[in-house]
Amino acid sequence: MTKELPNDFLWGGATSDFQYEGGYNEDGRGLSTHDFESNGSPEHPRHHTMMLPDGKLINPKSSFMDAESVPKNAKPVLLKDQYYPSHQAVDFYHHYKEDIKLMAGMGFNVYRFSISWSRIFPNGDETEPNEKGLQFYDNVLKELEKYHIQPLITICHDEMPVHLAEKYDGWNSRKVIDFYVNYAKTLFTYFGKRCKYWLTFNEINAVRGFGPTGVHESTGKNRYQAAHNMFVASAKTVLLGHKMMSGSQFGAMYALSACYPATCKPEDVFHNLEQQRENWYFVDTMGRGYYPRYADLILQHHGIKNLAQIAMEPEDKQILRDGQLDYISFSYYRSNLSKDGDKWFNVGGSSNPYLKESPWGWGLDPLGLRYTMNLIYDRIQKPIFIVENGLGSIDHPDENGNVNDDYRIDYLQEHLSAMADAINIDKVPCLGYTMWGPIDLVSLSTGEMKKRYGFVYVDMDDLGNGSLKRIPKKSYQWMKHVIETNGKALDE
Ligand code: BG6
Repeated sequence: MTKELPNDFLWGGATSDFQYEGGYNEDGRGLSTHDFESNGSPEHPRHHTMMLPDGKLINPKSSFMDAESVPKNAKPVLLKDQYYPSHQAVDFYHHYKEDIKLMAGMGFNVYRFSISWSRIFPNGDETEPNEKGLQFYDNVLKELEKYHIQPLITICHDEMPVHLAEKYDGWNSRKVIDFYVNYAKTLFTYFGKRCKYWLTFNEINAVRGFGPTGVHESTGKNRYQAAHNMFVASAKTVLLGHKMMSGSQFGAMYALSACYPATCKPEDVFHNLEQQRENWYFVDTMGRGYYPRYADLILQHHGIKNLAQIAMEPEDKQILRDGQLDYISFSYYRSNLSKDGDKWFNVGGSSNPYLKESPWGWGLDPLGLRYTMNLIYDRIQKPIFIVENGLGSIDHPDENGNVNDDYRIDYLQEHLSAMADAINIDKVPCLGYTMWGPIDLVSLSTGEMKKRYGFVYVDMDDLGNGSLKRIPKKSYQWMKHVIETNGKALDE
């Protein structure tokens, strides 16, 4: 079966503001939770730099599964001798013209980027936006329009203005719903006519902890309370967006690595089913517009008796129903294994003996992408959009500065072929594909620069040293050919 894709298929790349943009204190931007996050490595996890009232410094871990609690009275501080990757990132703020030209050179017709909330509302709770922040994204959109690249805007990618975290305890507070909706409304007012596809949140099923959610105490109760408030914020935003912009389409993004039972032992298979519901809890609620029947079972794993323990307003049920997503988008990098007796929701699990692994130990599984696409569509029956995929690897420029990244080409050839099979053979409606980090950017999990995803090399090291020069890699020409043949080249 041919790998050629439907004519209206969207090809592009995806980035987040705090991993890519830099300019952290320029033109009135306020500080975001990620601006306090250190660099790191797999051996030395990233942490937030914080100070207690007595002047003692603490370093709580911030992201994802290993989120640590942050004392309520701790204040995020920036330390002089600490390198913070978000401050410069790879400086898209000053390179956007050059970078968008490079994206256009590959034939992208879509570019997914996140808007920095604190660039638009520096504290998050103001009523009037920062005009200079809006101007920056207006400039970005103008540049995209020049090359006929349509935007796919992530309203919130794992962060918030730090003031909202400090003053309101982030998404733990219902008040943040109104601030978020007002922020989204501002984006619709200024950019609504120029953007059809929106994402309310990034990897909403994976975020927790101070950096992504602004919540201090990392308990099960707080996490699912924050999730509920985010569900309501998303649904209200979808409703508002549909009203303000006819034809607009809304998704939210989920981290949906495939997860297989480690063996065919029925207990392992059932355990895997139960674990997967940790993810489906988020997809089902937002994609179908109501909490799934197994919701209480999930909450019980986190010490919460049932949904009644989560603070909700009487109107929330209807808001969730009316503000359902139009499409389901997800990130896919790897697959995982789970078995009975594993720690609950042990993402990653043990190695799959049938798969090769990336240098960061991620199991490389192209068929898992096709599997996941089928699974989502069978379940929700709304179009899907692959908004992150790619290989984080170490690139070694040769003596002329060229990067021959055949490993990345192999990864993409296999994953894009699997995607084409899901579309052409399995008939899964898929709106498009945006490869993660088309221009090298900072890794979210480790804060490293050497974990590179791009088609374009950026001359910068883990501590931000380098010329920031952009150099297309071998994969750049390869991807250009795939896009200009609309996938047909994957057959070659
Ligand atoms: C997703 C995030 O989790 O995966 C991105 O949405 C992130 O922000 C990407 O960069 C890849 O992860 P990492 O840790 O390799 O940067």
